[in-house]
Amino acid sequence: MTTGRPPYRLAFCPRLEAERTLEDPILLEKRFSPRELAELEALPERRKLDRASGRLAAKRALAAHFLGEHGWEADARELEVFNDDAGRPRLRLPKGAPAPEPSFSISHCAQGGAAAVAAPGRLVGVDIETIVPRPADVIAFVASPGEPAAGPNDPEAQARLWTGKEAALKMLGLGLDADARAVRPEADGVTLTGAPAKAWTALGSPRVRLDYDGVEGARIAVAYTGD
Ligand SMILES: CC(C)(COP(=O)(O)OP(=O)(O)OC[C@H]1O[C@@H](n2cnc3c(N)ncnc32)[C@H](O)[C@@H]1OP(=O)(O)O)[C@@H](O)C(=O)NCCC(=O)NCCS
Repeated sequence: MTTGRPPYRLAFCPRLEAERTLEDPILLEKRFSPRELAELEALPERRKLDRASGRLAAKRALAAHFLGEHGWEADARELEVFNDDAGRPRLRLPKGAPAPEPSFSISHCAQGGAAAVAAPGRLVGVDIETIVPRPADVIAFVASPGEPAAGPNDPEAQARLWTGKEAALKMLGLGLDADARAVRPEADGVTLTGAPAKAWTALGSPRVRLDYDGVEGARIAVAYTGD
């Protein structure tokens, strides 16, 4: 993490909290809008927990953002999150909301959901991954030529490499068709080539930085624009 307060708000919702929420109709109604509840209900069982943990983390980070930046005490259920056609998370705010939609990002893994909300004028992307050994060929598939090798005996380095790339891709709004090899995390930011470089240029070539954080058993990376 950078020293001082970073220019984004990061929140985590442990899997157990998402499980408890899904089992409790009162909590569900308190935290999700009717439209969100209908969407949750329609998901296959195995995806509900991921969706709920990511959404709960997002609502927590969004509420902290609105309170801290705009002095607005928003209820979780009025911060309605949905996905656009590219899968990106978007926010539907109540009519007359005293603040605009910020850039925000969601990720989930076995440990729970993580979300980051950018300070005004910035873009953000987050990724959380369980720290487990990954086969060398899977890592080779996402590593760019010359990138320091992260072997299966170093799951921490693998998780760092993986989350750093994913966080930058999400910050750029790129999804399944993005090439992770075209994002190379460096000590002081990222080097981009191919489609990610094009997306970055279209945004006005802002400085991109990466922070790493974590929870028990999982690594979190946050990519954000600006100094
Ligand atoms: C689509 C993608 C975002 C999926 O990531 P994932 O690791 O499978 O899943 P995560 O839990 O981290 O993230 C899922 C969330 O990403 C968000 N998301 C989906 N598409 C997105 C996009 N185009 N831009 C930004 N965020 C997106 C959504 O909020 C989604 O959660 P939700 O559906 O519950 O709202 C994408 O980054 C991807 O698959 N890229 C492939 C690139 C690659 O090869 N990566 C290998 C590792 S480096």
